[in-house]
Amino acid sequence: MTLLALETSCDETSAAVVRDGKVLANTVSSQIQLHAEYGGVVPELAAREHLRNLIPVAQAALAEAGVPAGQLDAVAATQGPGLPNALLVGFKAAQAVAFALGKPFIGINHHEAHLYSPWISNVRPASCRQNASDLVLAAGTTFGFADFAAFQPNISLIVSGGHTMIVLVKSELNHWVLGGTIDDAAGECFDKTGKLMGLAYPAGPEIDRLAEQGNPAAFAFPRPLLHDSSDDFSFSGLKTSVRYFIRDHPELLDDAQQTCDLCASVQAAIVEVLVKKTIRAARRNGVRCVTASGGVTCNRGLRQELARACEREGFTLRLADRVLCTDNAAMIGILAERKLLQPVTLPPLDEDIKPGWVLT
Ligand code: KG4
Ligand code: ZN
Repeated sequence: MTLLALETSCDETSAAVVRDGKVLANTVSSQIQLHAEYGGVVPELAAREHLRNLIPVAQAALAEAGVPAGQLDAVAATQGPGLPNALLVGFKAAQAVAFALGKPFIGINHHEAHLYSPWISNVRPASCRQNASDLVLAAGTTFGFADFAAFQPNISLIVSGGHTMIVLVKSELNHWVLGGTIDDAAGECFDKTGKLMGLAYPAGPEIDRLAEQGNPAAFAFPRPLLHDSSDDFSFSGLKTSVRYFIRDHPELLDDAQQTCDLCASVQAAIVEVLVKKTIRAARRNGVRCVTASGGVTCNRGLRQELARACEREGFTLRLADRVLCTDNAAMIGILAERKLLQPVTLPPLDEDIKPGWVLT
């Protein structure tokens, strides 16, 4: 089956072509620079950028895959959750393509797709190129493939700027959400504490970079809900504690080493909670495999600590490739194809987006 998938739920416009479990192309146009000026994603601007970029991004994916639109067997798009106007762009465009080609269309839950991105193997490093209209495209997952032969029941950690959740994936397409954040997401905590330090949005990657040269034990910050028996998270208290710490020690930010120590200490608090709760959930549910995806999974401290903890426990760890941690259409396409291979009743072509679609 050859399938075109579109993803426009937040601030990445992405198109992928998937064929029989292989990612033939995955093109991403990121809006990070646009939103950085405003310190966060501006929904109206995001939607306009998707409108501007979707067709070139989809054309680039089809060209890279060497697949003319007429050869597509199916079309998929993210249906939710996400920013309503952003979702509408990709979802309605994908339905229109399916209608024009007379092919099946399926809407995909963005978080469910994240559960399967760690199973996409052999991803080539991303390359960026700039075209005439100033569009930065990162294309790099060509010939990645879904390694479902290696699938094991797992605990999946999804950590991004908008979500933090722990999901038990019992078998393919069969999952159960165990817990999530009751306030801020982990990425939001990185971004907001970074803002307090004067770092540009999104601050996560910069905190990660500075933390490399810092001492994670320099300053003690709370580990919220670490000893709580649930699989829920809470990061707003940690953010507040960083706010008060900076208020009481403003001179610290004038010192490069102390700024690195602060970044390392904040990162250590976030990472410890994420890792310990994920491992505990795996033990409690008797699974021996942990997976992780979402933008925060790019964090080197998180990747390292998850690897250490899984090694100690004898667990298999599958981290999404960095290219596929952040939002991408490859994971949408891989899941869509998997679903279409099952006996599935296709929804009507005028079905609507589901901005508040909660994974259960
Ligand atoms: O998945 P994503 O691209 O978008 C959504 O939020 O859906 O995730 C973006 C989030 C931002 O909060 C960003 O700061 C965080 O992921 N992030 C990181 C790193 N790279 C991205 N956080 C910590 N360390 C990183 N290296
Ligand atoms: Zn995402």
